[in-house]
Amino acid sequence: MEIRYYGHATCEVMTGDHHIWIDPFLSDNPLLQDQSLQPFDLDALKVDAVILTHAHSDHTGDALTLARTHDAPIIATFELAQYFAQQGAKAHPMNLGGSYVFPFGKVRLVPAFHSSSLASQHGDPVYLGMPAGVVLTTETGTLYHAGDTALFTDMKLIGELYQPDVALLPIGDNFTMGPEEALIAATWVQAPYVIPIHYNTFPVIKQDVTLFTEQLKEQGITGVPLKVGESFHLPVRA
Ligand code: NI
Ligand code: MN
Repeated sequence: MEIRYYGHATCEVMTGDHHIWIDPFLSDNPLLQDQSLQPFDLDALKVDAVILTHAHSDHTGDALTLARTHDAPIIATFELAQYFAQQGAKAHPMNLGGSYVFPFGKVRLVPAFHSSSLASQHGDPVYLGMPAGVVLTTETGTLYHAGDTALFTDMKLIGELYQPDVALLPIGDNFTMGPEEALIAATWVQAPYVIPIHYNTFPVIKQDVTLFTEQLKEQGITGVPLKVGESFHLPVRA
């Protein structure tokens, strides 16, 4: 499994020949503005599926375009999937606690403590079901993307039941848990590798990722602070 990070909560998971995008926020992502990656060519990407943790625009920004351009399904909680299906996307609705086996692996939606809304054309929030985390189990490893969430003790259960090889945890604070809580989450989830996400995108979620990585190390966990465009290759399990 290869995980390429595009800043914020956006990642491309590659397993076998498959390319799975989680929370694509590319066109308006401030972390991509200064990179040679921008303007981002959405047509040139390989996209077999788009998984969304919740409706907020910093997670769904390019979902519809990617799904329509590449004829790929949007996999999300029921209301969010329906919302994009109405706009012409292929959609695979799911809900919390459920799993489904896709050609690239098994997707399970797990709880996240957050909200899930998009602004209507008038600017007021339209609520689109529950927010979620994602457990993606493939032949090349198991990934847990926590989505936007507070710390909650059932993360222990996610660790026990699904034994993720790598966990993507938000550390930005303000909208999600901050580094102190993410450190506790990491010890509960017990994935050997943790990729910090959802930080430094906006001034209000600026964090010291080096410090977070050092603190993970003290807990025997390998922190993988990826730069925008950088990949992590998950080592094959012994
Ligand atoms: Ni959010
Ligand atoms: Mn967010």
